Amino acid sequence: MENPFRPSFGAVPIALAGRSFALDAFEHALEDHPGSEQRSTLISGARGTGKTVLLTEMEMIAQDQGWEVLRLHTAAASLGEELRELVLERLREVDPDAEGTRLTGAGIASIGSVRTETVDRYSGGPSTATALARLAELAGASGGGLLLSVDEVQSVDLDQLAGVTQLYQDLVRTGRPVAFIGAGIRSGIEALLAQGKTTFLRRAHRVELGAVDVGTAAEAIRLTIAGTDRSIGPEAAVVAGEISCGYPYLIQYVGAQAWENSQGAAEIALEDVRRTRDSAIRQMHMNVHGPALRGIAAGKLAYLEAMLEDEGPSSTAEIGRRLGRDHGYQSVYRRRLIEDDLIQPAGRGYVEFSLPYLRESLLLRRQEHPAPDAAPDVTVRRTRSGARQSAPSAAARTATSRTDRKKAR
Ligand SMILES: Nc1ncnc2c1ncn2[C@@H]1O[C@H](COP(=O)(O)OP(=O)(O)O)[C@@H](O)[C@H]1O
Ligand SMILES: [Mg+2]
Repeated sequence: MENPFRPSFGAVPIALAGRSFALDAFEHALEDHPGSEQRSTLISGARGTGKTVLLTEMEMIAQDQGWEVLRLHTAAASLGEELRELVLERLREVDPDAEGTRLTGAGIASIGSVRTETVDRYSGGPSTATALARLAELAGASGGGLLLSVDEVQSVDLDQLAGVTQLYQDLVRTGRPVAFIGAGIRSGIEALLAQGKTTFLRRAHRVELGAVDVGTAAEAIRLTIAGTDRSIGPEAAVVAGEISCGYPYLIQYVGAQAWENSQGAAEIALEDVRRTRDSAIRQMHMNVHGPALRGIAAGKLAYLEAMLEDEGPSSTAEIGRRLGRDHGYQSVYRRRLIEDDLIQPAGRGYVEFSLPYLRESLLLRRQEHPAPDAAPDVTVRRTRSGARQSAPSAAARTATSRTDRKKAR
């Protein structure tokens, strides 16, 4: 039997932990609440908290209700161009009547024609705004609407995204049945909202994703296994939930590893689960914390390392003292690290790591990148080959030419 867990980014899991409120609210908003703020939703959260999965699930709900869904890919060189292509392509499929013919300037027979050719044919066609309005109306006529979605907002060119959201805003203003979902890490969403032209999005419904509670994680793991020919006992499921810390990516990873460890046994045992902890830490280090810490500013790293001394939450005043810096400095880095989703407030005057196993990852990182010596080495000395150059000998010549050969390679 195949492993039922899906520990890869963007992969929709079999059991979704703790997202029912957000999904129900969205479904409700699509049903019959044209003015509902939930029709514009911004999803934020750190890597691996399930943004893409939630976005995908919302798109499926919309599709089931007869909505047209256009998902923009952030990799596209021009978001505006991509939107135009997508909407025209979709119109060709759903609008094969006279109106469609006029729009496309070609008969239905051309539907199968080469795409670039068809796109060219549109270059003089309707504006993107007109095409979007037409698609929204067509979908609206059968009780649906038009959903635009953008994932990884933090990697999109903000001006281009603002262009897209303005088109969306016009559709809202003219009463078209439309919805918009943007998903990204918190700093990306904040940057989008700070952009002058997207102020209307500040009223959008915000969904902030994080860990689910450990019991919910355990239940998601149990339910995933319940759909197979294997089982997991209640205690093992609880421990798996604990090791996952409720972090969505780890729910899948711990589940998958425990499944592997059980080597085909009918029941996944407690020991199979316990053994996943070390590899979960390494996995987080490689796939989540490693990338986030790579190239991190020295000031931020120093702040995080100053937190390592504490078992639990760290006092910000104490961090300031450890860093030998004043309150202003401390609070600037506190804010930056919160924006990066690396730490979070933990009661007044305290912060804690926001993702599981970041502490362990920082310790692993220290082993990989030992701190440079406290006193920088300011000496300069002549190299051996340099010394030989100033006093040539037969042996030195051979050595030099060997070095040269190496250099030439
Ligand atoms: N609510 C959830 N319950 C269980 N697993 C989830 C949930 N959301 C996401 N996952 C799993 O977490 C991992 C990361 O999800 P993804 O949506 O790619 O995160 P993000 O886009 O925030 O980086 C995937 O393996 C996915 O299957
Ligand atoms: Mg994602």
